[in-house]
Amino acid sequence: MEARQSRRTIETVESEMPEHERDFVFTNADFARIRALIYQVAGISLSDHKRDMVYSRLARRLRARSMTVFGEYLDYLERSRDESEWEAFTNALTTNLTSFFREAHHFPILADFVAHRKGPLSIWCCAASTGEEPYSIAMTLQEALGANARNASILATDIDTQVLAKADAGVYSIEQGKNLSAERLRRFFLKGTGAHAGQMKVRPELRQMLKFGRQNLHEDRWAVQGPFDVIFCRNVMIYFDKPTQGRVLEHFVSLMKPDALLFAGHSENFTYVSRSFRLRGQTVYELANGAATRGAAQSAPAQTEAVREEAS
Ligand SMILES: C[S@@+](CC[C@H](N)C(=O)[O-])C[C@H]1O[C@@H](n2cnc3c(N)ncnc32)[C@H](O)[C@@H]1O
Repeated sequence: MEARQSRRTIETVESEMPEHERDFVFTNADFARIRALIYQVAGISLSDHKRDMVYSRLARRLRARSMTVFGEYLDYLERSRDESEWEAFTNALTTNLTSFFREAHHFPILADFVAHRKGPLSIWCCAASTGEEPYSIAMTLQEALGANARNASILATDIDTQVLAKADAGVYSIEQGKNLSAERLRRFFLKGTGAHAGQMKVRPELRQMLKFGRQNLHEDRWAVQGPFDVIFCRNVMIYFDKPTQGRVLEHFVSLMKPDALLFAGHSENFTYVSRSFRLRGQTVYELANGAATRGAAQSAPAQTEAVREEAS
């Protein structure tokens, strides 16, 4: 949390800076190269108004590498196979805004859905950010299923390794838990004391329902394999163009059980992008042709363990 806050402080200061007061020259050509690179690696389409944000976030990468020219940094990225720098570049350009029970109307729908399912549940949260969303899913399952929630598995992935590390740790500020009821705080979190005052930690019983791993939705081949009962894909498609969204959605089709649900973010409408989905409720989708895919999905083995083990 501290790291994110300091990142915001730097961003605010630098993005409000007149260009001539900036540490590094940042040209239109630099911005165009960055846009092309992040699109290529993550499918993220950066609009013009992200220019200041891009400058402030990548200026830190230049400082970290003791470089003084954007072109030099970008040449290095393109020419080297420095995977850790590519990771840092990608992490720097993602937007990770999230919160517990964000878009709260989805969680009663999830609770009702899982209460009527038979067999072990498999849920994928594919843009998990710092973890508030998958932990909200886990809390919902515990509330809806009681002890049976132990049989459910929740896979939480993201492209950004920095946010995944935070999600994995399950430590949040008390402030981040302000939207949680007293009952949820008591049941699902431990309150920090002493050096950890002001923080709260997800209880082990909740933590053990989740596995974390990196999955870039823009890659052609995914390590994640289904079939899933539920996919949460909220507030990430907004960063993708339509062809990328279409490819991601078609991939989801192959990973969903025939009667599975797909949860989208409040401003994401998948029916404009793919005919494979039909709206079932407010930003909740089901497969348009669930029956036709039933055989394929049922015969596919549940192979989520590989990525889950790798992530743990
Ligand atoms: C705005 S957050 C949304 C978090 C959460 N789903 C929610 O709705 O609160 C978007 C997340 O998408 C992730 N992301 C961006 N591009 C991605 C990609 N190509 N593959 C996987 N995750 C990606 C970002 O790292 C970020 O954590």
